[in-house]
Amino acid sequence: MTNKRLVLAYSGGLDTSVAVKWIQEEWGYEVVALAVDVGQEPHADAAYWNAIKQRALSAGAIEARVVDAREEYASRYVANAIKANALYEGKYPLVSSLSRPVITRHLVAAARDVNADAVAHGCTGKGNDQVRFEVSLRTLAPDLEVLAPVRVWGFSRADSIAYAKRFGIPITASLEKPYSVDENIVGRAVECGAMEDPWNAPPDDIYERTSAVSDAPKGILECVIGFERGTPVTLDGVPTPLHLMLPELDAMIGAYGFGRVDMVENRRVGIKSREVYECPGALALILAHADLESITLERDVMREKSRLETRWAETVYDGLWYSPLREAFDAFIESTQKHVTGEVRLQLQPGQCVVVGRRAERGLYDYRLATYESDDAFRHEDAAGFVRLWGLSVETWSKRQRVEEPAVPAPNRIS
Ligand code: ARG
Repeated sequence: MTNKRLVLAYSGGLDTSVAVKWIQEEWGYEVVALAVDVGQEPHADAAYWNAIKQRALSAGAIEARVVDAREEYASRYVANAIKANALYEGKYPLVSSLSRPVITRHLVAAARDVNADAVAHGCTGKGNDQVRFEVSLRTLAPDLEVLAPVRVWGFSRADSIAYAKRFGIPITASLEKPYSVDENIVGRAVECGAMEDPWNAPPDDIYERTSAVSDAPKGILECVIGFERGTPVTLDGVPTPLHLMLPELDAMIGAYGFGRVDMVENRRVGIKSREVYECPGALALILAHADLESITLERDVMREKSRLETRWAETVYDGLWYSPLREAFDAFIESTQKHVTGEVRLQLQPGQCVVVGRRAERGLYDYRLATYESDDAFRHEDAAGFVRLWGLSVETWSKRQRVEEPAVPAPNRIS
């Protein structure tokens, strides 16, 4: 009889390292550890990933793999989020929500490759990421069993550290920094510790991609983002693929102390949770993209799109990346992006990133219609009749049905 085999989504952190061993001990699977590079460590090199692989092997994995999914992640997932100006609950640029679907794709590919019977992830039972992994897995590979050891073992953080020590699993975690962090090229998400009281200001030591505003450079810096059909393609005129542009922007814009989001959000599982994000590059790109749309999208398309943007973000947040609804939203959004090509000027100041200019060859901004100068081409004579008809319906209502409001009290005249 051959051994049962499983592919584990491996991060190199405490929980997934313990999981490698625990799954073998308790459930009897051979474990293949798969780490997916989605840009979680902006300065990662071959040595970094080798250390992660070694850790998985020391924890007892029969094989450890790393796949570089940064380009695919940026071009097929993150680019769509930018086109959708996606901000969950108006604030959160979907850091973790976007990476789970691409990680899942690679889990399934690896599971097929090694003939696995099951896959596993290291999510807890309280979060959104279990929802995203499992719903995606059910969609892409309903035949694979999905296991969630962290949901079953009931370890506290101290228990996990003790388990790792007992089995000689090398870990870097200690009890001092109690944060749970998830990151990728879109940004960092940090929770737990003192932040569990939503009244507490986030501790200073949680930040890695943004400086305090007081440490920002004093002057003003400008940069120009170029877009093609809604996708960011150049930085200051230099063609730059999105997976490389985001880390560059994070460094440049994060230094100005822009890009922090502190919020209490509604998780899919019904819990309100406090989370702090740092996403300078992603927030700047959404800001710039939405601004470019203001001169390239026809008014009614823009209004309709903005209604869908909220739903797009909710759909992806809720784990439904692989769904006909997200596909249909993206088909609509893609069709709106045909002329979202142009450039946006961003200005950085301590604590701020603002748009100060935009231009597009096929933009809809018509100087001769907008100007108040002498070369005005607007037909002023059309306005009076248009306004009269626009208001005709409510004028009629007012005459026949409107209930008179109490009279405005007479003002105390001074003179
Ligand atoms: N709340 C975010 C989401 O659901 C991030 C989840 C992971 N956060 C973390 N700090 N581990 O998308």
